[in-house]
This record gives sequence, structure tokens and C-alpha cells, in this order.
Amino acid sequence: METRNRIARNYDRRAQDFGGRSDDDFPQLGWIMNARETLLDVGCGAGGSLRRFMQHHGSASRAVGLDISPGMLRRAAEDTDLALNAGGVRWILGDAESLPFTSESFDVVISVNSLSHLSSLDRAMRNQHRVLRRGGRLAMKFRGDLTLERPVERAMRDALAQELSADRLRPILDMYRPSSAEGARQSTVAAGFGDVEILTSRRDWVSDPQELIQRFPEIAGYMLEPLTHGERERVLGQFRRNVLEASGGDGLPEFGYSVTVLATKPS
Ligand SMILES: C[S@@+](CC[C@H](N)C(=O)[O-])C[C@H]1O[C@@H](n2cnc3c(N)ncnc32)[C@H](O)[C@@H]1O
Repeated sequence: METRNRIARNYDRRAQDFGGRSDDDFPQLGWIMNARETLLDVGCGAGGSLRRFMQHHGSASRAVGLDISPGMLRRAAEDTDLALNAGGVRWILGDAESLPFTSESFDVVISVNSLSHLSSLDRAMRNQHRVLRRGGRLAMKFRGDLTLERPVERAMRDALAQELSADRLRPILDMYRPSSAEGARQSTVAAGFGDVEILTSRRDWVSDPQELIQRFPEIAGYMLEPLTHGERERVLGQFRRNVLEASGGDGLPEFGYSVTVLATKPS
């Protein structure tokens, strides 16, 4: 529970960073929504993924956004365009691992960049399967396990490992243990989905190390929250040295790695 609260507080602090882009999260989808269908967005954040989905794949008769962060939901509720487009959107505080909806209550479930902080992907998948009607569709995308190899992520994890005992380090690192593509396939099939399609994508670029030294501690704030002031100062100092060393005076290599899961609940 404390882990959930830490993740939620981290997203509360970052609520202003989300919601702006307009590109399609699921360009592979070969269908659009029937306007009578109902839609659930798990980990909806400030409402960006729900807005993008309806923009590219059709409006729903009823849309629900669920998130663990009250700050994100407050921002979502301020998006008046979204409320008008969906003909009524409900924002619900809740956890992907225990969805507060009756069984078979949605036609489509989506989730975008939200399911990497779970204690059990299997449980989240079983929940999504349960709330979908028979024949209902799942479109889900999350940052996959390879993102743990990003140099900036390594720089933070190595800095934490230098400062903390193994016992204290483990639960902190466990807060972000994204699944592999194969793990996602297994969880999706085990939950009872059919027509399972798994896609991966990777994009590489180079970042300014000084900018990452400023920005990343906010993104990974949930990892620093359990530390004392002194520990945090030492970890941030070591993180800074690690980033500069990895960049070797030039830019820091960066990449994004996404896993997309498309599946159907058999009729
Ligand atoms: C990177 S944001 C993405 C938000 C939105 N889907 C978008 O694409 O703009 C991740 C969101 O997932 C939420 N989240 C993380 N773990 C969650 C969980 N177990 N249940 C529900 N929401 C969760 C966070 O609070 C945050 O708002």
C-alpha cells in the first residue's frame, strides 16, 4: 500500500507534465469504436490517453478514466473538451490491480504507459479481462523491461546501490520492474485473452546530460522519497557523477522501449 501511495504522490507532483501530445498510441489498430460502446482507460493520468484514443479510434457512449493519482484526476476533470467529446466521462480513483467495476461492464479497455509500476502484471491482466464484455477488446501499451538499461536509469540505480544496504535497496528498485514482451504475452494468455498480438518498438536519441541531471530525480522521485535528507544528497551527487561519466563529455545516449498488447476476450 505504501508503495502505491509513493507512486501516486510522485504522479501528483508531476501532473502538469502530462496530457499534451496528440499522436496515436495504437496506429496498429485495424478497428474503430462503435459509438454505442463503452471505454475504460486504466491509468488515465490527466486524460491525455483517453482523448487521443477517441480522437484516433472513435468516441464512446460512456468513457471512464481510472488512476491512482488524485492530482492527475483533478487535472483530467479540468479538460472540458474531453468531457464534451465523450458525452460524459467519469474519473475514478482506483488501482489497476483491483478494478472497482462489476464484471463485463466495458467493450474496450485501454492503458497507455501506466502499467510498469505493478506488483503483479498477472493480477492487472485478470482485472482487465474480468471487466471486459465477451468479445471486448484490449489495447495496452507500457514501457518494457529494456528501459531498465537506459544509461540514466542505470546511473540512478547504481547511485542508490552504493548508498543503501541490499535490504533497503530491493523494495525501492521493485517499485519499477516493467515486464518483458514475453512476460506480457504470458500474462495476457493466462488471463484468458485470445487473438493476442505483442508488438515492441524502440526509439534512440541523445540527451543533454545537464538536463537529465535536473529532470530525472523528479521522474524517479518515488525512489528517493524513502531516503533521509543526507542519503538523498549523497545519492544525487553520485547520480550526477554517474551521468557525466556515462556521457563522456558528449550527450547521454537515451532510448524508449514500448511493448504493445492487443487482445480480445473470447465470445
Ligand atoms: C505516464 S502516466 C500516463 C498517463 C496517461 N495514460 C497518458 O498516456 O497520458 C502514468 C499514469 O499511470 C498511473 N498509474 C500507475 N500505476 C497505477 C496503478 N496501479 N493503477 C492505476 N493507475 C496507475 C499514474 O498515477 C499515472 O497517472
